[in-house]
Amino acid sequence: MMTLDSREELLKIHEIYPKADLIIRLATSDKSAMTPLSGKFGAEGTRQIPDLLMEAKKLGQNIAGISFHVGSGCRDPTSFRRALEQVKTLYDFGKSLGHSMQIIDIGGGFPGGKLNANFEDCAKEIRDSLRDYFSTKNVQVLAEPGRYFSAAPFTLCANVIHSMEVPPEYDETRSSTESCMKYYLNDGVFGSFACKFNLYLHSEGVPLNPKPDRPNLRSTIFGPTCDTWDKIEEDRLIEKMNTNEWIYYIDMGAYSCACASNFNGFRPPEHLFAISQENWF
Ligand SMILES: Cc1ncc(COP(=O)(O)O)c(C=O)c1O
Repeated sequence: MMTLDSREELLKIHEIYPKADLIIRLATSDKSAMTPLSGKFGAEGTRQIPDLLMEAKKLGQNIAGISFHVGSGCRDPTSFRRALEQVKTLYDFGKSLGHSMQIIDIGGGFPGGKLNANFEDCAKEIRDSLRDYFSTKNVQVLAEPGRYFSAAPFTLCANVIHSMEVPPEYDETRSSTESCMKYYLNDGVFGSFACKFNLYLHSEGVPLNPKPDRPNLRSTIFGPTCDTWDKIEEDRLIEKMNTNEWIYYIDMGAYSCACASNFNGFRPPEHLFAISQENWF
């Protein structure tokens, strides 16, 4: 069984494996997702997929269902309803052609971690839509959660390898009358913060050992490499820290160090695994 989203792929698979059960991936409107995926994957639902269903029928290649992905980090739970509504029309059409159409794969996109916790809203939208469109149909529903499982269990701890205070008179932008801080960490956007390139990092660093008597200063946090893109946070009020202190970021288990490179000779971070005694037992 495999997924496809174009005629070219259909013909290629048909030549090699005419008995394969195929799932057609629908492109969804996922503009509000942290990382839209439909620009790269998925066939258009009103013309292209019906054409694919007909072509597959002509070839004698079974279509076993429809899949979609509403974009990673879904911020609009109604995207699931819109996608499932389209899937219902395609399901009916596929069935009328004689395809088995027994699978609906609702992909990933489920939020993970504390910072975008609308999982219940997504679940409700999916449950209600499945009831509205598929309750009388014999379908198997699959999901492909990624971020939902992996984001929250991981916290990134980075070391401040250099810190410096920029007094207002040294600030060429003269944007402030107070000093601001520049911090350099031993991890950055070429490491665990690679997801910054997709603009979907919302985690804010927190000093590991806060000291309430220290001032909050406008701060910019950089990674260790030579590249000016290597900026993790910009112009945020953070308690003043010193070199060698630690700063941590929660919910860093998804699309983080998996995308890291060793650019400039900096290695991706080490992983340490911990579990409370209570959970262990
Ligand atoms: C086909 C497919 N399924 C599932 C996922 C997991 O997505 P998420 O982490 O948004 O749940 C991805 C992520 O890119 C994907 O491409």
